[in-house]
Amino acid sequence: MFENKEPNLIYNQERFIKPNDFQNLLPDEVFDNYEQPELFSSRFVLEPITDSHKLELYHFFSELERHHFIPLEPPTLEQQEKRCARWVTRRSPDGEELWLNWAARDKQNREIVAHIQSRMTRDRSASIGYVVGQKYQKKRVATECLEVVFLYLEKILQVKEIKAWSDVRNKASHRVAKKLGMVQVELNKSVDFFNGTTTDEYVFSKVINQSGSTLTPFVTK
Ligand SMILES: CC(C)(COP(=O)(O)OP(=O)(O)OC[C@H]1O[C@@H](n2cnc3c(N)ncnc32)[C@H](O)[C@@H]1OP(=O)(O)O)[C@@H](O)C(=O)NCCC(=O)NCCS
Repeated sequence: MFENKEPNLIYNQERFIKPNDFQNLLPDEVFDNYEQPELFSSRFVLEPITDSHKLELYHFFSELERHHFIPLEPPTLEQQEKRCARWVTRRSPDGEELWLNWAARDKQNREIVAHIQSRMTRDRSASIGYVVGQKYQKKRVATECLEVVFLYLEKILQVKEIKAWSDVRNKASHRVAKKLGMVQVELNKSVDFFNGTTTDEYVFSKVINQSGSTLTPFVTK
């Protein structure tokens, strides 16, 4: 087991490649051999989504309140089954991007509390999306889960930039993005139309300076 000294980033996958190994790997090798790891925070286990999550995720998405800021439609069980099957590949349909999906599970009550998605291109640019279950919102779930995902993207996959897109009215999401060190870089007007109105969105970005950075030493636990 490898533990990062910074909070909350722990791997217990012995098969998982160690961070220093990545420096010498070509992107193709990284992409071709990629396995998405389980991540841990103090309260949650972030599980790479597999077919076995389909029923729980179907309930998770069905129970979400219809959201004013994102066009979230509850999936049917069949749709969720298809999504899980697609996510298991960890790749975009054209194979050119890593598509990572985690279900965050509460360690205490074993319920799924959040879904987190990140896409990464071969040039090491990543995007992030996140949804927290209704009854778990405003309990720092998004912040805690995304902190470990950001550490993973930055330290292990060594991404250069992480971006998030968020409706201009979505204050909670802006707050989460800022707490993760992102800054607002763009405003896109009239990007979508739902709930009877056009929506504008902010683009948030965190640029990570990998040049000259030394990876935090990992210790065996
Ligand atoms: C956005 C979302 C992921 C936040 O999840 P969460 O677990 O509640 O977030 P956290 O508790 O970690 O942090 C929320 C922060 O926003 C603040 N906040 C919440 N509602 C707010 C509001 N209406 N106005 C301003 N700030 C607000 C909270 O106080 C907290 O900040 P703090 O820690 O400084 O007090 C959740 O509301 C959600 O799933 N929304 C629907 C999906 C969505 O919008 N996803 C983002 C699309 S990019």
